[in-house]
Amino acid sequence: MTSQSRDAEYTMGRSSEETERLIRQSQLYDDVTRRFFLRSGIGEGMKVLDVGSGAGDVALTLAELIGPEGQVVGVDVNADILKTAHSRADTSDFSNIEFIAGDARTLELPDDFDAVVGRLVLMYMADPAAALRHLATRLRPGGIVAFQEVEFTPYLAALHSDTPLVNQLIQWAREVFESSGAHLEMGMGLYKAFVDAGLPEPTLHFEAPMGGPEDWPGFAYLANSFRSLVPLLEAYGIATADELNVDTLAKRIQAEVAASKRPMMLPPHITAYASLTA
Ligand SMILES: C[S@@+](CC[C@H](N)C(=O)[O-])C[C@H]1O[C@@H](n2cnc3c(N)ncnc32)[C@H](O)[C@@H]1O
Repeated sequence: MTSQSRDAEYTMGRSSEETERLIRQSQLYDDVTRRFFLRSGIGEGMKVLDVGSGAGDVALTLAELIGPEGQVVGVDVNADILKTAHSRADTSDFSNIEFIAGDARTLELPDDFDAVVGRLVLMYMADPAAALRHLATRLRPGGIVAFQEVEFTPYLAALHSDTPLVNQLIQWAREVFESSGAHLEMGMGLYKAFVDAGLPEPTLHFEAPMGGPEDWPGFAYLANSFRSLVPLLEAYGIATADELNVDTLAKRIQAEVAASKRPMMLPPHITAYASLTA
């Protein structure tokens, strides 16, 4: 993972299906995120900045952890997706979430946050270390920096001669993210990003949801991910909608898993947190 001159194109697109996909993604990764935030020290009464809020799932998880005395400020460069985040926050039990549209690296934000967090957002930034360095200035002394990002390399462990469809999907996913300029190895890159940003060395963990049963939500999630990827897969000449046949994809992956007895792995995530000097 190196810094680059331009941000990545948002690989997954901006459709309403993509908003739905983000919500499904959260159902599969929220456990990882919740445990991560608790480990990092986020808790009751804290004021937390959520970078790249998307449909608001991370902010909703945070609101639960910090309780009624805390406050969440979610920022996203995509004003449209924040409409979904807003309405989900409005219909939730939490009244302490605020969303602001804009680029987290340039928005004027207070400098008294107890924590700054993000999930799957540094991977789209040209220079993740510069972003972290700036975001850390929004923290009070002793504040927490906690980011969760994808790491694609270990995903290759899912490749197997008995799973040609899964192999093909992993290859297409890799190609489309690489073509878009996203950092597919942002997970392992977190250590360097923290250190280059002048932050303390982070504490790191690694996790990937896996499953096999017919009703495992990972199959539908994966198929929906490819639905969001179709426009860019076609634009880059990597694969066509016909080749993907997204409508039958979840069933075909599940059938391959059942026949091969190889569980399906979702993209692994790495989590990293550190606290500033108090
Ligand atoms: C993959 S989504 C993840 C959403 C959410 N964090 C989650 O895990 O459900 C990444 C989000 O980051 C936003 N984003 C990317 N770069 C950003 C930036 N510089 N400032 C604010 N938001 C950004 C995108 O618009 C997108 O909604």
